[in-house]
Amino acid sequence: MPNENSALLPAVRSFLSAPKQLLIGGEWVDAKDGRTFATVNPSTEEVLVEVAYASAVDVDRAVVAARTAFESGSPWSRMTPRDRSHLLWRIGDLIDAHADEFAQLEALDNGKRVEAARDGDVATSAELFRYFAGWATKMEGTSIPMSVPGREFHAYTRREPVGVVAGIVPWNFPLLMACFKIVPAITAGNTVILKPAEQTPLTALRLGELLLEAGLPAGVVNILPGFGDTGAALVDHPGVDKVAFTGSTEVGKKIAAAASGNLKKVSLELGGKAPNIIFNDADIDAAVAGAVLGGYFNEGQCCVNGSRLYVQRGVFDRVVEGVAAAARAIKVGDGFDPASHMGPLVSKEQHEKVLGYIRGAVAEGAVLNAGSADAVGDRGFFVAPTLITSVNERMAVQTDEIFGPVVTAIPFDTEDEVVAAANNTVYGLAAGVWSQNIGTAHRVGARLRAGTVWLNTWHADDVTLPRGGFKQSGWGRELGSFGLDDYTELKTVIAELR
Ligand code: NAI
Ligand code: MG
Repeated sequence: MPNENSALLPAVRSFLSAPKQLLIGGEWVDAKDGRTFATVNPSTEEVLVEVAYASAVDVDRAVVAARTAFESGSPWSRMTPRDRSHLLWRIGDLIDAHADEFAQLEALDNGKRVEAARDGDVATSAELFRYFAGWATKMEGTSIPMSVPGREFHAYTRREPVGVVAGIVPWNFPLLMACFKIVPAITAGNTVILKPAEQTPLTALRLGELLLEAGLPAGVVNILPGFGDTGAALVDHPGVDKVAFTGSTEVGKKIAAAASGNLKKVSLELGGKAPNIIFNDADIDAAVAGAVLGGYFNEGQCCVNGSRLYVQRGVFDRVVEGVAAAARAIKVGDGFDPASHMGPLVSKEQHEKVLGYIRGAVAEGAVLNAGSADAVGDRGFFVAPTLITSVNERMAVQTDEIFGPVVTAIPFDTEDEVVAAANNTVYGLAAGVWSQNIGTAHRVGARLRAGTVWLNTWHADDVTLPRGGFKQSGWGRELGSFGLDDYTELKTVIAELR
């Protein structure tokens, strides 16, 4: 057993020792065909626990449960907005009450530091429930005048739930991404089938237990751990009305194609390759700190990380030296070790992929100012934070989403040149500008084709803010008040006043 870790809370131990099943219609059940898969601790490469693996038959069962829970007359459809609001708030408080437990589970399953999980992933997940608890009672329509000579009408709009939502999420923020899908969906009265990532199913399963404890009616949220085939079965299913996906652009394209079967609604939050632009007139200390946070946050496994640095010629050497020194000072180690600044990557696959990109860049003549193309240590999926210079726009490290602690830096001279380079990507999720000239900062910010633009900061965030991508970074926006639009259908009602 991997659970010799003496820091583990009793609640985490007991969670790990119980069978990990599917949540369907308010019951914990095995997969129909009895299949399971192993989830691994990326710091030690040990198997944590076996988890039930949902197949297409289980997807059928979950769709029946979610449809039954959605149908008019069900306890869920009859719940008043105020009661829904109170329930959401209660779940947020329950997450907070179990924050240490969630943080440890996330550190075990994903590898990230326990404190990072608690203060980031878990705290934000709880806050999401409370933020959307406020919206449950405020989903209003409008009344709209009509001009038909000689007749009188009362026309108005209603916001109604879409139906059964399949939420398919990745492994970089396992609990938080699950909440990104579940919370807006149930706020608007939908029911949900969540498929966690195969690498990190544990915190979603613990959340499922708390949802039942809080009193969420059976079938409103169903949880089906599994691999891509489980996700594909959900996307193909005619009983699913909407797919909300976060993950790779490659799978996002498959989902868009597959969803055409019954023209289900699709929202996609996909990859990124964010440009981070530092002008000569920036506050260089702040810009260096922002480049380090923006580049290496969450072990580099974050879709809005600033992985492409563009630095104006006059400060290029100073910024490169600053970022490289900071990168070298980052201590990589087990997420349970309080001395660690950065944990491992999530999986062997991701480890090999990231090291392969660094090796490829070196083979093409790039220079490593910090980091290495070799693994750190002989156990676990660790990679040293890496800064690469002498790169060009055609190299794979510059064009591809690497999803590891790898940042490239390229010098530039003019604003037009850097805007063209920054926008020269299929992605458009995030971008950033550092300049103490407010004209430069806002003008360049407006010229960057990205869903989120940070000026003189990076990763500043709130659940109140919409997020999503331009171009191949996705369809739709999540969170904030805009985040509810994708989870509702707008109904127009026209009554003749006779
Ligand atoms: P992925 O896109 O394959 O997986 C994300 C989720 O989609 C998982 O739950 C997976 O089981 C599911 N899935 C896979 N194939 C599916 C299909 N055909 N239909 C429905 N669902 C399917 O991402 P993966 O393989 O874990 O990572 C590969 C790369 O994708 C990463 O290296 C990174 O570059 C990128 N990525 C981007 C993320 C983002 O937030 N933008 C998150 C995770 C990965
Ligand atoms: Mg995959």
